[in-house]
Amino acid sequence: MAQLLHLEGIDSVVLEDRSREYVEQRIRAGVLEQGTVDLLNEIGVGERLRREGLVHDGIELQFAGKRHRIDFPSLTGGRRITVYGQQEVVKDLITARLETSRPLHFEVSDVEVNGFESESPVVRFRREREDVELRCDFIAGCDGFHGVCRDSIPAGVLRAFEREYPFAWLGILAAAPPSNEELIYAYHEHGFALHSMRSPTITRLYLQVRPDEELAEWPDERIWNELELRLGLEGWTLNTGEVLEKGVTGMRSFVVEPMQCGRLFLAGDAAHIVPATGAKGLNLAVADVRLLASGIAAWYRNGDVSLLERYSSDALRRVWRAEHFSWFMTSMLHRLEGGDEFDVKLQLAQLAYVCSSEKAAASLAENYVGLEHV
Ligand code: DHB
Repeated sequence: MAQLLHLEGIDSVVLEDRSREYVEQRIRAGVLEQGTVDLLNEIGVGERLRREGLVHDGIELQFAGKRHRIDFPSLTGGRRITVYGQQEVVKDLITARLETSRPLHFEVSDVEVNGFESESPVVRFRREREDVELRCDFIAGCDGFHGVCRDSIPAGVLRAFEREYPFAWLGILAAAPPSNEELIYAYHEHGFALHSMRSPTITRLYLQVRPDEELAEWPDERIWNELELRLGLEGWTLNTGEVLEKGVTGMRSFVVEPMQCGRLFLAGDAAHIVPATGAKGLNLAVADVRLLASGIAAWYRNGDVSLLERYSSDALRRVWRAEHFSWFMTSMLHRLEGGDEFDVKLQLAQLAYVCSSEKAAASLAENYVGLEHV
């Protein structure tokens, strides 16, 4: 957001409550849509991404003991995805921000946003034991699901839509070369498993677990056994290695409408959460700030409020499309606790359809690589 504004000649102050080390190390998803890659290139932060990002032309769906490939370019008119860790994007954005010499403050606390229903919003925060007060034209609430912006909006303005899923993902990062060139989304009677990667030497793997799963119940050996079982096929072996990181992530869908209150605009996880399957979170945040920055730029250029007035409805069209896609992938691929054989048959029928009908595969593919005109 700050980089987009900077390129339009608009100044901003970026506040982050964590440390630089924390945000640069925190592991998140790693799939960038074509449109996200295009935007990172346009704003001048794509150099390392072009060098180190792994361009993928497809994914594999595995069920009933077989793998089926979904080929993106042939189904989407040449579009692809790039595997590149979210924290690598964060590092590149921080570097670009520091190069501009414009303010980026880490480890601020006590952030408060006020006055956004007037023409002069105020942001207060504490930095290096000093209280700071900022007056500004706009506040971009890019502060995540647990941030202060959404909760600062008066009651009755926002409507929330929410769904919790009865499972979570146990994710590991391992010092092992990927065991397959592409991502594998596996449906198995023990639950979902995902094979992904970060580089030619680092594998990222996930297992469906209970939402209240204790990491202590999952020593490395149990994780590898379960991954081998759920992802395994005759004649294929899973590369193993030192487990570098381990964590459990809950799965939920969440959207607030509208994504605005006066001059406070919400973007990314502050306004919406998707379940992880399909890795839409960062991509949606990037699409939000692209819209928001062009709305703010039009306002400064000639007082044009039309884009800002449409920001929420424009952003929400893509948000709901991605909510549906993430829900669809999640529902198709996870074992439902308490589900019955009927659920299993429906999931298998859907998987078989997606893997045998070119039209169904194209629908999955165009959502996966990112829709252009939503
Ligand atoms: C990754 C995460 C996802 O949620 C997904 O659908 C694919 C890949 C990842 O972390 O690599």
